[in-house]
Amino acid sequence: MEVEKITEEAPEVKTFRLKFKNPEDAEKFEFKAGQFGEYSVMGEGESTFCIASAPTRKGYIECTFRKAGRVTGALANLEEGETIGFRGPYGNVFPIDEWKGKNLLYIAGGIALPPMRCVIWNTLDLRENYKDITIIYGARSVEDLVYKNELKEWEERPDVKLVTTVDPGGQTPDWKGEIGFVPTVLEKVAPSSKDTIAIVCGPPIMIKYTFPVLEKLGFTDETIYTTLENRMKCGFGKCGRCNVGKYFVCKDGPVFTLKQLKELPDEY
Ligand SMILES: Cc1cc2nc3c(=O)[nH]c(=O)nc-3n(C[C@H](O)[C@H](O)[C@H](O)COP(=O)(O)OP(=O)(O)OC[C@H]3O[C@@H](n4cnc5c(N)ncnc54)[C@H](O)[C@@H]3O)c2cc1C
Ligand code: FES
Repeated sequence: MEVEKITEEAPEVKTFRLKFKNPEDAEKFEFKAGQFGEYSVMGEGESTFCIASAPTRKGYIECTFRKAGRVTGALANLEEGETIGFRGPYGNVFPIDEWKGKNLLYIAGGIALPPMRCVIWNTLDLRENYKDITIIYGARSVEDLVYKNELKEWEERPDVKLVTTVDPGGQTPDWKGEIGFVPTVLEKVAPSSKDTIAIVCGPPIMIKYTFPVLEKLGFTDETIYTTLENRMKCGFGKCGRCNVGKYFVCKDGPVFTLKQLKELPDEY
């Protein structure tokens, strides 16, 4: 695929808009919110990223990645017009059809907004299918918030409630959002659990403290969804690299309900 456009989102975080070089591939390619792909740089290897653009927006896909090591380092050095490899889509999906008629509560932290951006745009593009849509998003600092333009767009939409927060000390003098960790802000906002699906993506520590708050608000294990990011190799259930308990995260996931996660071994 050709790297059509590069957006600098935050320190060490970039979004690539990718276009199929072969128009037939572009025509045939379909995916659903929640799925991921394997992105490769010649001679360096492959990295797993979710598809961060919405399936309702055709003709391109986007991924957002943080420079973490070998492959993401090589990707970060690319320029617009260069070519990368892509294979996918892999994995299961957010069941957005089952969520029709419900309120949606999106809770994300840091670089975990990309897996959620896909399903947020997907449900916003089908806005009439859902009741209230609330997004709670936090990052360490104002600088670390990704998709700053989209946050502004969501903030201005009358049909979306957006709450942004930064960790104490991460604010700038003109910061108008909340200051505090995501679970604390969630407790303060206290969205109703009635007819509501909660989708949570974030670093493990955020997830750990967010689930109990959701439970306190009355969410059940079946109404809480998250995505896992186990290290992967093949991406389609052959190598066993991503195995945890009875699941292959690449095939049975990456989307899981809290009910499913509770069936995993304790150390997980
Ligand atoms: C389903 C799925 C979706 C993902 N979506 C995204 C995304 O949208 N954006 C994004 O930036 N990243 C995402 N990741 C994580 C991403 O795959 C890794 O950060 C990336 O592969 C690192 O590659 P590398 O070669 O640069 O790092 P390496 O050189 O292989 O490793 C560098 C460091 O990163 C750590 N690391 C590597 N892979 C992972 C991982 N999967 N989880 C935690 N730590 C890891 C290594 O332990 C090491 O410390 C996703 C992972 C999965 C499984
Ligand atoms: S990554 Fe190979 S089985 Fe999941």
